[in-house]
Amino acid sequence: MTVPARLPIVQAPMAGGPSTPELAAAVTGAGGFGYVAAGYLSPDALRTALDRTRALTAAPVGVNVFVPGRPNADGAAIANYAASLQPEAERLGAPLGEPRWEDDAYPAKLDLLARAGVHTVSFTFGCPTADVVARLHSAGVRVAVTVTSADEATTAAAAGADSLVVQGTEAGGHQGTFAGVTPNRASLNEALASVRAVADLPLVATGGIMTAADAVAAMEAGAVAVQIGTALLCTPEAGTSAPYRRALLERRYSETVVTRAFSGRWARGLANRFAVEHADAPAGYPQIHHLTRPLRAAAAQAGDPDVPNLWAGTGWSAITDDDAATIVRRIAAGL
Ligand SMILES: Cc1cc2nc3c(=O)[nH]c(=O)nc-3n(C[C@H](O)[C@H](O)[C@H](O)COP(=O)(O)O)c2cc1C
Repeated sequence: MTVPARLPIVQAPMAGGPSTPELAAAVTGAGGFGYVAAGYLSPDALRTALDRTRALTAAPVGVNVFVPGRPNADGAAIANYAASLQPEAERLGAPLGEPRWEDDAYPAKLDLLARAGVHTVSFTFGCPTADVVARLHSAGVRVAVTVTSADEATTAAAAGADSLVVQGTEAGGHQGTFAGVTPNRASLNEALASVRAVADLPLVATGGIMTAADAVAAMEAGAVAVQIGTALLCTPEAGTSAPYRRALLERRYSETVVTRAFSGRWARGLANRFAVEHADAPAGYPQIHHLTRPLRAAAAQAGDPDVPNLWAGTGWSAITDDDAATIVRRIAAGL
């Protein structure tokens, strides 16, 4: 079963704060499928998050991991970007971070997940190798891969994926594109159509799904389930920071933008000052994520929404602060 739940609703893994064990358990309790977001967590912190989720729900859960890229970013371009951020750092009284490459502890997380008894491991930012997929399969774990195009779907199917999370450009947060060089401009409908043409696998649709009508449209376009992120950001169960919530609920910015400003990888968020002023930031994930991190943390701490990444999908203006169960039931109502 692709989504081992009563309702074909999947809670998007949302690394960096919004995902919590409480959110995964609440979505699961309402009949959906919950994810633990392993991105940015140490293996120990992942273990703790998984244990806590399991203490809150006996239902099957998934874990999402970032596939590391190559450490081949343009160092001079990153150094120029760092220099351009110096005035912002001085204004905030925070140092710039070290723009270092790392692999998000990918091998250690895979070791842990091969023994953790989770239902599904989903991947984003790239495709796991066939060896990694086979290892998870032999541990009884299903594998989902986030894709944005027919080529990525073909690669994921060849690696042995059991299902594909098809992400449209509407999606909040980072785009899952494997190379991450050009932004994904395909709408969810376009992506579903092109992936369906090449891959005979169950498809989970993600990007901009906020209402029952959105979910119905995605299922009619061939998805077996929908994965919702932004719709859950302001639930009491999410770990979304106070200034982030206020910016969403008070409609502080009028639109979203796809930008590399915060992390060096294309991502969609509210068009706050930092996103707009640094729209020409170079590629370089996770180096730029580390470079800007202290600035984003200092601004969030000071309650300033103009500098942190405020990931949000194009449907963000339909957001409410209802609890997760209410939102899951509302979106599932038409299915
Ligand atoms: C705050 C935030 C964090 C996200 N973090 C992750 C993540 O850790 N892993 C992942 O696969 N997708 C992540 N995503 C993308 C979601 O999986 C999903 O594609 C997206 O939320 C769907 O679009 P929507 O936000 O319009 O519902 C994130 C999205 C948001 C909004």
